[in-house]
Amino acid sequence: MDIITKSCFSSSVRLSDSNHAVSLGFAHLQASTRFFPQTASVSFIRRKCVRAMSGDNMERGGVKPLFVKIPGSDLPTQIETRFKVTVVGVGNVGMACAQTCLTEDLVDELALVDIQADKLRGEMLDLQHAAAFLPRVKIVADTDYAISAGSDICIVTAGARQREGESRPSLLGRNLTLFKSIIPQLVHYSPNAILLIVSNPVDILTYVSWKLSGFPPNRVIGTGTNLDSSRLRFLIADKFDVNAHNVHGYMVGEHGDSSVPLWSTLTLANVPVLNVRDKNGVSYSKESLQELHRTVVESAYEVIKLKGYTSWAIGYSTASLVKSLLRDQRRIYPVSVRAKGFYGIENEVYLSLPSQLGRAGVLGVANVKMGEEEMQKLQQSAKTIWKLQSELEF
Ligand SMILES: NC(=O)c1ccc[n+]([C@@H]2O[C@H](COP(=O)([O-])OP(=O)(O)OC[C@H]3O[C@@H](n4cnc5c(N)ncnc54)[C@H](O)[C@@H]3O)[C@@H](O)[C@H]2O)c1
Repeated sequence: MDIITKSCFSSSVRLSDSNHAVSLGFAHLQASTRFFPQTASVSFIRRKCVRAMSGDNMERGGVKPLFVKIPGSDLPTQIETRFKVTVVGVGNVGMACAQTCLTEDLVDELALVDIQADKLRGEMLDLQHAAAFLPRVKIVADTDYAISAGSDICIVTAGARQREGESRPSLLGRNLTLFKSIIPQLVHYSPNAILLIVSNPVDILTYVSWKLSGFPPNRVIGTGTNLDSSRLRFLIADKFDVNAHNVHGYMVGEHGDSSVPLWSTLTLANVPVLNVRDKNGVSYSKESLQELHRTVVESAYEVIKLKGYTSWAIGYSTASLVKSLLRDQRRIYPVSVRAKGFYGIENEVYLSLPSQLGRAGVLGVANVKMGEEEMQKLQQSAKTIWKLQSELEF
């Protein structure tokens, strides 16, 4: 049953034209994962595969099997999944992360977890129905965290959403309780995973996740100011009429209100932005750039006011981090990491610093040039986070 079993498995999550005759019977099974204990559905599929492809069936009624094993083949009965990613929380942000990971071809298995069973199943089916247009990926979903077992990365987006005008810290109390139920279960089923936290306030919840997980700090990361930095790069790129990929620079510190732009790292074609004029002949000073920083900080509130939530940019930001982690790209991102001891930060906090991300998680924090004022703001950002965090009970 080896090859036959394997081809039936792959068919069960994909409905491509070429194999749909074999797969139709199994697509429903896969879609209904949460109603079938895995072992039961697996053995059912196996049995069905054997029947469908046995010698007896080769020409029954003129109907031929789609594939026939080459005599003498030595094929494995199971193919190991290479990269498995779990997304906890299938709201706007979770689905943007899931969708971007799929279109960027980053995962072989995607597991979705949420407390809303119907929404979860609906989102899973909706993604599965795009199988003909996506890379081959097994997509599963369940309210039970067992579905996340063996994940390489667990992305946590579950939580109460930021309300119009609500500061990120005010979300904290609402989200802390959720994390106490989520993190231990992820750790139980995926003890070697990297936790990638997205829910807000992201810096404190990343610290909470680190504490609750017992993982080494290199395996607990928050998306942090990667998104803020992208927003800044977009604004600069627009002013200079260049590709945002060619705008280099970081915002560090807290994701959001007390974030710190490192103007001295902000360059275009290696030229500091402070030394060149934009497409309208405007030149910039540190003071005029503060206006851009304000725009960046307010942009999340603006998007929330306009459409109710933010999703696409954080989805792409997260997928970009997943790519560097899973593929060991060793790219440098401003993400929320355990910051104590760096740049004069004395408190036990998570906040964003330019960090190298590879298969083992955070490989190191970059020693970037930081002015005295920037360093002070960063330390102030750490104190702001610490003050809120020290009131937590968990
Ligand atoms: N870090 C960033 O840059 C960034 C950007 C945007 C949004 N966010 C944050 O992401 C989070 C999600 O935002 P959203 O717009 O997707 O919200 P949403 O309300 O659309 O989705 C939240 C999802 O979490 C689920 N959920 C709630 N409790 C759960 C639990 N115990 N276990 C599993 N799932 C649970 C809900 O059922 C819902 O599907 C918020 O905290 C938001 O502030 C962070």
